Formats: sequence, C-alpha cells, structure tokens
Amino acid sequence: MISLKIENGLNGNPLIPGDKSISHRSIIIPSISKGISVINNILKSEDVMHTLSAFKKMGVKIEENNDQIIIYGNGLNSLKKPNEELYLGNSGTSARLLTGLLSSQNFETKLTGDKSLSSRPMKRISDPLNKMNAQIVTTNGTLPMSIKGNKLSNANIEILVPSAQIKSGVMLAALNTKGITNIIENNITRDHTEIMLEAFKADIKVEKIKNKKIITINGTKELISQNINVPCDLSSSAFFIVAALINNNSKLLLKNININPTRNGILIALKKMGAKINYLNKRKNNNEEVCDIEVVSSNLNGCDLDSSIADLMIDEYPILSVAAAFANSPSIFRGLAELRVKESDRLELIKKNLINCGVNCEIVNNDLFINPLNKNEVKKIEIITNFDHRIAMAFAVLGSKLGSVNINDSESIKTSFPSFIKEFNKVGGKIS
Ligand code: S3P
Repeated sequence: MISLKIENGLNGNPLIPGDKSISHRSIIIPSISKGISVINNILKSEDVMHTLSAFKKMGVKIEENNDQIIIYGNGLNSLKKPNEELYLGNSGTSARLLTGLLSSQNFETKLTGDKSLSSRPMKRISDPLNKMNAQIVTTNGTLPMSIKGNKLSNANIEILVPSAQIKSGVMLAALNTKGITNIIENNITRDHTEIMLEAFKADIKVEKIKNKKIITINGTKELISQNINVPCDLSSSAFFIVAALINNNSKLLLKNININPTRNGILIALKKMGAKINYLNKRKNNNEEVCDIEVVSSNLNGCDLDSSIADLMIDEYPILSVAAAFANSPSIFRGLAELRVKESDRLELIKKNLINCGVNCEIVNNDLFINPLNKNEVKKIEIITNFDHRIAMAFAVLGSKLGSVNINDSESIKTSFPSFIKEFNKVGGKIS
C-alpha cells in the first residue's frame, strides 16, 4: 500500500473494530462454558477467525451473522478431537491460549502456523504447563507443536516472562484441573482473561500486591455462559490517535474504546508527550472500562519511558515511535527486549524503517533512542514490514505526515484491522 501526505488534517468518527484480545477470549471461554453466549462486535480479522475455526473443528456449534456470533457451549470437557491439525495463521494469542486449554483435554492435537508464528518462542508456554504434567512436544521450542491432552496436576506456577498470553494459557489449563492452581505474575499484564472468567462464574480469586498478582483457580467447576459486547480496540485506535496528533487541523472522535488500565500505556505515554486527548462518557461494559476518545492535533515533546510501562503498551511501540519522530525533542523508550519476539523483530524493524525515513535513531541494550525528524517531505520511501500488521499501519501513519511511503506486504493488516484503509481514508487519509 502507498500512503501519501495529507493536507487538511483528519476529521470525523472512524469506526474502530472490536478488541482483538477480548475477541479471542470471547470465543474460547464461551466454547467451554455451559449454555448459549451471544457475542456482539467481535473482530472479524484473520487472527480471530483462526481461533473461531479451531473451535468449530473441535465440534463447537457457532453461528455467525456479521459481527455477531452465537456460541453453544457444552462445558469444560465437551471439545472433540479435530480431524486435522489446527492451523493458527499469524496468531500468537491463539497459539499460547489454545496450548493451555488443550493440554487438559482428553485428546491429542497438533498446532501449526504461518512462517512468522512458526518462529516465535513456545517454550515459554510449554515450560510452565509441563510443571503441571502437560505432554507437549515443540519443534525446537516452536510450532508445529503436539499436545497430548491429559489430566494435569495442580501446582504453583510463577510466570517468568511478563506475558498475558502465557498467564492466560496457564489459567485455561487450571480451569479443567482438579484442586487449587496458584498463578504468580511478577509484572502486571492485560487482565481480560481474569475479568471474563469472573463474569463466567469461574472459581477464581485475584489478589494484587503492588506490581505482583496471585491468581487462584479452583479447577473443574463448570463455567456459565454470558453475553458479551466486545469493546473497540485501543491498539487499533492508537494509529488514528497518533495520526490526528501529528497532522495539523485534525480532530477525531473514537467511540466505545477499551481503556482497561492494564492496557492503557499508550495513552499515558502520549499524554506525557503533551497530547490533547479527552476521555468522554467513561463507563463499564462487561466489567471492562470503556470511553469515547477525542483527540486533536498537538505539539508533542519527546519523552523518556521506563521499562515498567512496556507491559502496559507492548503492541504500541511502532506507532509511538512514529509519534516520537515528529516530536520537538528526543525520546528514549527503555527495556524493549520483548519487541524482538512479536510478529516480527519489531525493535529492529522500527529502527531500520525510521532510519530509512531520515530519522536519527539507535538501539542500545534494547533501549530505543529516537531523535526528531527534520525533513518536511520525502519522495518514495520503501518500508519493510516482514508481514507485520502493526509495522505496516504505523508507517502508513508516518506517510500521512511525511509523503509518499510505499509499504511492502501490507496485506498483513488483515490480521487485526481489515477496514484500516477504508476508515483512514474516510476521515481524510490518502492510502491506496
Ligand atoms: C495479547 C498479549 C500480548 C500482545 C498480543 C495480545 C493477548 O502478548 O502483544 O498482541 O491477547 O493476551 P504477550 O502476552 O506475549 O506480551
């Protein structure tokens, strides 16, 4: 795709799709609950559709009607052995959460994925599950992975990598395991699984001690189906928020956005940089915090972000880096090692592409240093994305300010935001 410089700012109300993390969980948890769940505003992106088709292959009845789905759940042990391997495309969330869930079922499954997912670390999920006696065989620590479901033993599991995917995978395994499993998290990560399991009446207790959390699950209690309205995705909103901030004469209103405090690091960081962002109509929806976000063009300053905020905004560094490139002073984002094992080595790709656009930046010990750009316009720059959706959308936003940016392999945006180009152009963008 090619993103061109815009002249008259971005204005209006773009439609942001349903939250990706909550959409995955809105398929997984109802599928193992008892009763019918109606899910509204589910994200129909490739990643989420891989989770949906996995559950259909395991015998769950799911009716689809635009962005509403109806799931007929039959309980913790109702899944059937699929006739074929479960292909999960690009989706790390599907892979890690399903590994936990399937390790306590009574059949064997094989998980596979695309080139990017097949190179991402899976021992971080198989290691803690093996402590519960799971039988998981990886291919040198990656997919393809075979999971021989069996009765697991309850245990105390410390989550060693700050990751909501790992925490959630272990929680899903514990649900179908007799006795008390304690999951100890040393860094707070997104808590959508805890919130949803509480609503579905799991026997779960969450205790927070400063930045540490202990989740206690008393397993084998059946979950009770609930209806869910999936709020809109803050990570997808971030591309529009930054685009409005860096382009003059812009004002956008983004409605019904999830601002869960374990996910809102990007808003904290942008406000620290001087962003004019207002939260309107704050409310709760299925126990998730939501609001409407109003954002207007702002003069941004650089900022120094400590590693402690990284877990609250890990997916937003590509777009935050674009904001930093248009700030008035340098920025430092610290402690970004985890960015290297996302859909691509995001840390390296941010640096490479920013340098290509004329930004002076460097990585020192996984800290990213970005200096403001001093060009007004560029002619024809090629962006390498390695099929990473967030790199593609972040640099499309950069193109809206800087000029003709040609983004390679941009079909990856279908993994999280299939309507991105349409919505961006609707409010004044020039992407083709
Ligand atoms: C996710 C957790 C994060 C995030 C990913 C979605 C989730 O990954 O990067 O896009 O839905 O739990 P980690 O938990 O591995 O950091």
